Amino acid sequence: MTGQVNDPVKEVESAREAFEREFERFARFTSEAGGGLSSLKDAESELRGLAELRVRHAGKKSAIAAAKKLIGRVPAEQRASFGQLVQTAEAHITDSVNAAELALKTFIETARTARESIDVTIPGRRPRAGHLHPITLMRQRIEDIFVSLGYAVEDDREIETDFYNFDALNIPEGHPARDPQDTFYTTQGHALRSQTSTVQIHAMQRRGAPVRMIAPGRVFRRDTPDPTHNPMFYQVEGLCVDRGITMAHLKGTLAEFVHRLFGPETRTRFRPSYFPFTEPSAEVDYSCFNCSGDGCRICKWSGWIELGGSGMVHPNVLRAAHVDPEEFTGFAFGLGIDRTCARIYELDDIRLLFENDVRFLEQFR
Ligand code: DAH
Repeated sequence: MTGQVNDPVKEVESAREAFEREFERFARFTSEAGGGLSSLKDAESELRGLAELRVRHAGKKSAIAAAKKLIGRVPAEQRASFGQLVQTAEAHITDSVNAAELALKTFIETARTARESIDVTIPGRRPRAGHLHPITLMRQRIEDIFVSLGYAVEDDREIETDFYNFDALNIPEGHPARDPQDTFYTTQGHALRSQTSTVQIHAMQRRGAPVRMIAPGRVFRRDTPDPTHNPMFYQVEGLCVDRGITMAHLKGTLAEFVHRLFGPETRTRFRPSYFPFTEPSAEVDYSCFNCSGDGCRICKWSGWIELGGSGMVHPNVLRAAHVDPEEFTGFAFGLGIDRTCARIYELDDIRLLFENDVRFLEQFR
């Protein structure tokens, strides 16, 4: 019977030694604080290694499990002491593994808690607040003034037919404005609007007369970009049609506008001009907001700054929009938003307004 077994005591001792050798690297976790563990991932992998060690040395197929089966087979007089030896060895293995496991789990728990905790004293990260574009700011200032004068704000299409672009605005065939050199034509009979005056027609058709509206928006011209030109820019169109409207109303309205935009001391000046859609027509200037007319860099030493074009709506334009010129008269005007913007902020290159470089735009918060 004992022939099957070499020396059961030796078997147990070598099992214990084998465990001791493998367990050595886990022992440190119970001794030192953290046992030199550097990370949560580290500890988790050690814990898996420890579980495998437990299976190998205390599992069903371990040497200790085999030794236990021998207890009944050793001679009776040795049985008690051998049984004691096996139990002690098994208890030592289990206790050692349990202790290391507890240490690792404690480390892992602590590390997870630390990872999930937040430091409420760290200053928050402030999102970068956006702000409006200088052209938008200027457009809103202009809109506010005209809305307070009883004008509606119209928004309309940027691609127009020849009718709205030219015919209805009394621009005859062969007029230079129709030249493909100046206008972006798209498909046959359509073009990007080259002025917001097109909206006059839409507004009168939609609203009839009387009507008071402004139309801010983009316009397009085939210009080569340079410091004072861009193929896309912004205008505000204005239209006021009613019974008995005269040039005096035009002058009063634009004078009031520049008073509100630049200050009550601002003066206006009307110079005779020509536009196909107005008769008579005038260019409007205002006294320089910087030097009040004395002459400075901003007004190029003239004392005056150009505001835009204006005039009394041509009867042909009223007719094209089905408004009776015998009953109604009106005035209209067109101003450049970006041009005014560039003037106020002393930009020496209008293209800065369209490049959208944040280093430039940030200055207009
Ligand atoms: N549309 C003109 C331009 O782009 C500006 C203008 C002049 C508009 C006279 C008007 C006006 O409504 O009456 O230069």
